[in-house]
Amino acid sequence: MIKVTIDDITIQVPEGTTILQAARMIDEQFGATIAPPAMCYYSKLKTTGGYCRTCIVNVEKGSEKDPRPMPKPVASCRTNVMDGMVVRNNTSPEVLEARAGVVEFLLINHPLDCPICDQAGECDLQNLAYENGKEGTRYEFRRREFAPIDIGPYVKLNMNRCILCYRCVKVCEQITPGRVHGVINRGDHSEISTYIENSIENDFSGNVIDVCPVGALTDRTFRFKSRVWYTNPVDANRECEKCCGKVRLWMKGEDVLRVTGRLNRWGETEEFICNTCRFEKKKTADWNIEGPTRISHHSVISQNHYELRKLQLGLRKQIHELDGTKPDLGEGALNPNNEGQVSSKQIKSEGSSHYD
Ligand code: SF4
Ligand code: FES
Repeated sequence: MIKVTIDDITIQVPEGTTILQAARMIDEQFGATIAPPAMCYYSKLKTTGGYCRTCIVNVEKGSEKDPRPMPKPVASCRTNVMDGMVVRNNTSPEVLEARAGVVEFLLINHPLDCPICDQAGECDLQNLAYENGKEGTRYEFRRREFAPIDIGPYVKLNMNRCILCYRCVKVCEQITPGRVHGVINRGDHSEISTYIENSIENDFSGNVIDVCPVGALTDRTFRFKSRVWYTNPVDANRECEKCCGKVRLWMKGEDVLRVTGRLNRWGETEEFICNTCRFEKKKTADWNIEGPTRISHHSVISQNHYELRKLQLGLRKQIHELDGTKPDLGEGALNPNNEGQVSSKQIKSEGSSHYD
């Protein structure tokens, strides 16, 4: 085991752990919220990460053996920890400034169409922009524009919103047989495309919807049916011969409006599910209902999320303005949703009040 300190919290982790994974371990063990945001890394898929740069951190001390700092911010999802390493994320004004620049780049081509986007309310880019971005843009040129297209019977691609994180490509490469889509062209002309108009038609293709951090790949069976915050998520299962059969149902009254995988606090699905469970089982009678979902990831469907987040960001700014002091990473101040600390009373309560 080796020792690493991130934002003044020290933890022992196995060799080969990345800075991002170590930060997530700290969040899970100590109830902090110091893990950097990640738009392209996905722990369930191999070779993800290294594309978006939202997870950058400052390495203040390389290791016990070589204490020199790293000269520029590094991608935490692709950098392994070393024994004695000291890392700064939320406690580094330079990192926060650099991340704001990354967000500005990601938003260069991304349209601000949240009011009509099905991903609104559970969009990683929406949260990233709110928490780490700046108001306004310096970009003066015309944005890239693509017409939305159907790729297969269940998935709609809106390329305008794509941030080229490659997660959907990795899903098709690693969990479906015979990938038929990928990124074509280079640079500003890059786009997700199905080769020669092939559609994605295999049993696990629907998972591209869950891994897409923005609204570029959406569920055609759910599009425009409801805003996500008007639906009630419940965990359910069924015996399925193709997948684990453990899903999340998004319900309005007795109707199942959509079925997704169970996303954890990092926005990653716990287990990939098949298209039969996702698209063809839309009746409550098809499922064994386990109970209301505890929403713990960053989302506007976490009650008061943005209000509390605003308070937290304000506090952090004030702390930085006080010379020589560092943000207090104690429970509460940086854990606005009290993740992992929901009382059983909250879980049992009705309607949307079971959200953190
Ligand atoms: S479509 Fe979505 S998952 Fe695929 S590369 Fe674009 S943003 Fe990433
Ligand atoms: S999450 Fe690390 S570069 Fe995208």
